[in-house]
Amino acid sequence: MEENALEQNDIEVVLDRELRPSTWDEYIGQEQIKQNLHILLSAAKERNHSPEHILFYGPPGLGKTTLAHLVAKEVGANLKVTSGPAIEKVGDLASVLTNLLPGDILFIDEIHRLNKAIEEVLYPAMESGVLDIIIGKGPSARTIQLDLPPFTLIAATTRVALVSSPLRSRFSGGVHQLEFYTDEEISKIINRSAKVLGIALTRESAMEIAKRSRYTPRTANYFLKRIRDYAQVHKKDIAPPLVHEALELLGIDHKGLTGADRRLLETVATKFNGGPVGLNSIAAALSEDQVTIEEFNEPYLIQIGFLDRTNRGRILTPHAYEHLGLEVPVNRTLL
Ligand code: ADE
Repeated sequence: MEENALEQNDIEVVLDRELRPSTWDEYIGQEQIKQNLHILLSAAKERNHSPEHILFYGPPGLGKTTLAHLVAKEVGANLKVTSGPAIEKVGDLASVLTNLLPGDILFIDEIHRLNKAIEEVLYPAMESGVLDIIIGKGPSARTIQLDLPPFTLIAATTRVALVSSPLRSRFSGGVHQLEFYTDEEISKIINRSAKVLGIALTRESAMEIAKRSRYTPRTANYFLKRIRDYAQVHKKDIAPPLVHEALELLGIDHKGLTGADRRLLETVATKFNGGPVGLNSIAAALSEDQVTIEEFNEPYLIQIGFLDRTNRGRILTPHAYEHLGLEVPVNRTLL
């Protein structure tokens, strides 16, 4: 559990805020999304209109929230931030919506966690800018309709498959998938963060950190800070050997895998003969939660070709066996 914390806890959110790029030029990568947003926002500004609603999806830590902040800044709007789990009742959403000022941008993180009844309030709000409120119960119940000020909804999710299709289709301004970053992009992000934090860093060290950062800016920034601490305590400069030492102490190997990742792979290899095996069985064997595995561990393992998700379950690839120093079993049931 603890090892997964590096991508999940609140410290990370604070870190994001401190190092968040505040201009488009500082925001590295995701070029296609940036170009599409540029068109959407320029056109909306020319028409003196709020931009249409936007959905961002992809693994955690890739910069979805940062994009929402940049959009708000670009159009000179206020950004109101909330999340799916924070909106528990229809009344919570009604209160958020009725408190918006004209032109505001509402950011809902983890939109896949909104319940059905609340989603249904969102539909007319997104489509026609109205809020339908039901007053009373049974045969005497009435609906009153409130006009909302013009606003833009920006939503983010790590689980786009859990966003219902009627909701997805209402993001008429665009549905964008954030991609993993390249090592070069991560290296640039690390160099920028080092400047912001006043850390002296060579290009070689930045690349060494980048290679272990799981193609994810949040992880890279977290590692950079932990390496800075390590260098300070050991009264040494940051150089590639120190980067290795500091990351080894955190349990991060040369591919950027955490102890939790390696345990997952080893479990599939040793307890389930390399798969195919269902997520529920893996979760039970690891005493870990399925959502954590699916959202935090698997995307990177799949990206680097260590794990395959198939209809029949998860399968370990020969690369994963090699990484673990294990032989690929000969009697494996493959698809
Ligand atoms: N921090 C998080 N995402 C970033 C990005 N895309 N560019 C620069 N810094 C970032």
